[in-house]
Amino acid sequence: MSENSKRWINWDMLKDLSDDQIEEEAKRILSIMTLEEKLDQMSGDWTLNLGGPKMQKRYNAEPIPAGEDKILGIPGVLFSDGPRGVVIGNSTCFPVSMARGASWDLDLEEKIGEVIGIEAKAHGANYFGGVCINLLRHPAWGRAQETYGEDTYHLGAFGVALLTGVQKHIMACAKHYACNSIENTRFEVNVSIDERTLREVYLPHFKKCVDAGVASIMNAYNKVNGEYCGHNPHLLRDILKKDWNFQGFVITDFAWGIRNGAIAINAGVDIEMPFEWRMAPAKMIDYLNEGRFTEELIDKAVLRILRQKLKFAHKGDPKIYNKEKIACKEHTELALEAARKSIVLLKNENSFLPLDRNDLKQIAIFGELANTPNIGDYGSSRVYPPYVITPLEGINNIVGNRTNIVFNEGKDLKEAKKLAKNSDVSIIVAGYTHLDEGEGSGTKERTGDRISLRLHEKDEEMISAIASVNQNCIVALEGGGPIIVGPWKNEVSAILMLWYPGMEGGTALGEILFGDINPSAKLPAVFPKSEDQLPYFDATAKEIEYGYYHGYKLMDKEGHDPTFPFGFGLSYTTFSYDNLRIDKNTINSEGEIRVSIDVSNIGNMIGEEIVQMYVGYKNPSVDRPVKDLKGFTKVLLTPGESSTINLSLKAEDLAYYDNDKNKWVIEKIEYIIYVGSSSRNEDLLTTTFNIS
Ligand code: BGC
Repeated sequence: MSENSKRWINWDMLKDLSDDQIEEEAKRILSIMTLEEKLDQMSGDWTLNLGGPKMQKRYNAEPIPAGEDKILGIPGVLFSDGPRGVVIGNSTCFPVSMARGASWDLDLEEKIGEVIGIEAKAHGANYFGGVCINLLRHPAWGRAQETYGEDTYHLGAFGVALLTGVQKHIMACAKHYACNSIENTRFEVNVSIDERTLREVYLPHFKKCVDAGVASIMNAYNKVNGEYCGHNPHLLRDILKKDWNFQGFVITDFAWGIRNGAIAINAGVDIEMPFEWRMAPAKMIDYLNEGRFTEELIDKAVLRILRQKLKFAHKGDPKIYNKEKIACKEHTELALEAARKSIVLLKNENSFLPLDRNDLKQIAIFGELANTPNIGDYGSSRVYPPYVITPLEGINNIVGNRTNIVFNEGKDLKEAKKLAKNSDVSIIVAGYTHLDEGEGSGTKERTGDRISLRLHEKDEEMISAIASVNQNCIVALEGGGPIIVGPWKNEVSAILMLWYPGMEGGTALGEILFGDINPSAKLPAVFPKSEDQLPYFDATAKEIEYGYYHGYKLMDKEGHDPTFPFGFGLSYTTFSYDNLRIDKNTINSEGEIRVSIDVSNIGNMIGEEIVQMYVGYKNPSVDRPVKDLKGFTKVLLTPGESSTINLSLKAEDLAYYDNDKNKWVIEKIEYIIYVGSSSRNEDLLTTTFNIS
């Protein structure tokens, strides 16, 4: 028996291991590895110049491998991007994350995670890199569509839901850690941020994913307080690995996530993706010989990698990971359910919607986007579904043959107006595409981030022209984040936010327009009146300061009135909120309070309501937000039905981070609880309690 065959690890036997056994086995494997073998675990398998063998075909055609050891029999990690589905092959394309954030539906998100896990594994991947939870500081960020919204509590809940679903099958990676919210200068911008803002605003959602057992974290490209995230020991070692006790491994964002392997490993990076480059074994051996780090650091990194490989090696039932599952009916139906639950009804004057299909002779549909499969950007998150139902197809499929549908791109406004005038209803689809926002969009000089938060001039003109001749005008918007709608909002009867609604988005739109589905989604980010209601944003910035406030908290703080508030969305029915109560008036700093409220459907249609709980702080010793989201849930109610909603609030979730003492402090003050249907004061009932 050769030396190597004695060292061969029979991975198939390493099933059903307890955490202790995993730990033991990982250490045993580490002890038989040579230095070179260990270093091979720590970088991607692609070669620097050629990329992957399948790169010629298209990016992400195949899983991206790292750290396979054929001699020892250690499998590699096989990475697949997301989050709108699996990027390999022709997979199910869900609405983008921002849309799913608008569903406020964590069970749905977990199911989406499961489908993603199953399809990724059926494609041969074992590692999903699509748990993107960067905070939407400003809607111009081009990758807004890849995350869930602007609020850390809501983001954390969604990140956990997705990774919990995915990790029933394969490893998940949460990204981009941290403060990544400008695309154009992402490789160089330095974000200056004080410790309290970092810990309270930009990181808690990552911590939630760590607490939920995420296998891996991807460091962002940008710098935080002067250091690239992949060179940043404060982010990676002090906070992630020490304070949060993260047991998984850190990968770099691809190619430019680190600049120097010695600095990166010292800072806490475990795998360089997707090439052997800055952490190439030969280079790392030189650094080691120069005394830039010790072999102990390598051992620690490899142990983290082995631990997760062992933990996930045999997850799930192998029988279910077959190609028939990819974009199967069950999965595309989930994409449809997600689209139904993600479309936000923003305006519905005099209950104009839903439309009555028996009452309309002709509907005119306008806008190129009505006839365009528009499911999101063309960057690393691009999914290639087998089909996409456009808005035009979705509406066509749902109206009866008594109604005539006419379509016009809206380029010739004279022609469009004529059509609109002769139609009972006009539906305009407008917004953005992969050319306006998203990874790789724009020009070489300025990529990714949106240039304006308003619609293109031609779209605004089209809306005004059509609305001037047809009062029954509906606008359906597509885009990855908030849009300024003020210039034309009052001219139309109804507005719907579709986001990028995935492969079944058109179907969901049709169903909502005609009342087969009652819309229930609510905004995960505020729709401002103008850009001056938002924090400073500069897509060309090499230096930027991130302050404590953005989104609804900034609006509250500065007394701005947005067009549509955070948490806002209309329904075809009406919900009432009564009898807000708590089980205790005072708790101590380890305590928890139970909050209850009765919600009733007092309208005529079955509908789902998203119940939100915010907390305010009375006379705090430090500056604190007027309102802070601390809980939410959904309830489905038939007309006339009531339900008691219970939410809970822990004292520890109300702490602030004390910059001077470097610790979390729970203040002994009075707290205000707000519960209701949106973040707007008029929509909330209040009560108070104390922590003593
Ligand atoms: C993106 C990541 C992505 C990676 C791999 C990078 O450019 O920022 O989100 O996971 O590429 O495709």
